[in-house]
Amino acid sequence: MKIQSNNVLLLIQFLTLHSLIVLSASQDFDFFYLVQQWPGSYCDTQQGCCYPKTGKPAANFGIHGLWPNRNDGSYPSNCDSSNPFDASKISDLTNQMQSDWPTLACPSNDGLTFWGHEWDKHGTCSESVLDQHAYFSTALKLKTQIDLLNALQSEGIQANGEKYSLSDIKDAIKGASGYTPWIECNNDSSGNSQLYQIYLCVDSSASGFIECPVFPHGSCASSVEFPSF
Ligand SMILES: *[C@@H]1O[C@H](CO)[C@@H](O)[C@H](O)[C@H]1NC(C)=O
Repeated sequence: MKIQSNNVLLLIQFLTLHSLIVLSASQDFDFFYLVQQWPGSYCDTQQGCCYPKTGKPAANFGIHGLWPNRNDGSYPSNCDSSNPFDASKISDLTNQMQSDWPTLACPSNDGLTFWGHEWDKHGTCSESVLDQHAYFSTALKLKTQIDLLNALQSEGIQANGEKYSLSDIKDAIKGASGYTPWIECNNDSSGNSQLYQIYLCVDSSASGFIECPVFPHGSCASSVEFPSF
C-alpha cells in the first residue's frame, strides 16, 4: 500500500514536470515583431527584384513577416516540420495577401514560396497561439491598424528619393501610432543608406501592439533615403 501510493506520487510528479516542459516548449518566445518592407528599397539594391505574377505591387509598405522573438534578443525558428505550409488553409486570404504581403523575390512567382517560408521558419514557432490561418490573418489585421505610409506622409516624409532624418522618421511613426518603431536600412546600388524595413512589436498572444522589449541590432545612417517605387 505504501509503495503504491509512492508510485502514484512519483507518477503525478513526472506528469506535472512533463506537462511543464511541453508547455514551455510550446511557447518559446515573449513577443512578436511585425516587420514591413518598403518595396522601393527591396528593388533598387544591387540584387534587384521581380514583380509577382499578379503585377507590380502598390507603392506601399508590404508585410515581410510576423516573427516570434525573445526578450533576450534571440528567436526560435523552424519549430515544427510536421506542420508545413499548406496554401489551401489560406485560400480565402489570397487577394489580401497579394496586396498586403507581396513577394518581390526572383524569379517572378505567385507569393506561395515567400508565405511558405515565413510560416515554416517563424509561424511554426507561434503555433500554440496562432494556427496557419490565424498567423496570416492576424498579421494582415495588425498591418491595417497602423498605416505607416500615411504616418510618414503626414509629416512630409515622401517616397521621392530624398533623404530624411532617421529621428524624424521614428517620430512620425511614434506620433501616429503611439509606438516606437525600429528602422532597418539597406544600401541602394550606389551605396546610399535607405529606409528598408519597419519593425513594430506585438504582444505574445498577438492581440495588439506593445512597446518593443528589445530592438534588433544594426544601424542606419542618421539621414536615410526614401526611394520611390
Ligand atoms: C551598407 O554599406 C556600408 C558601407 O558602405 C556597410 O558598412 C553596411 O554594412 C551596408 N549595409 C547593408 C545593410 O548592407
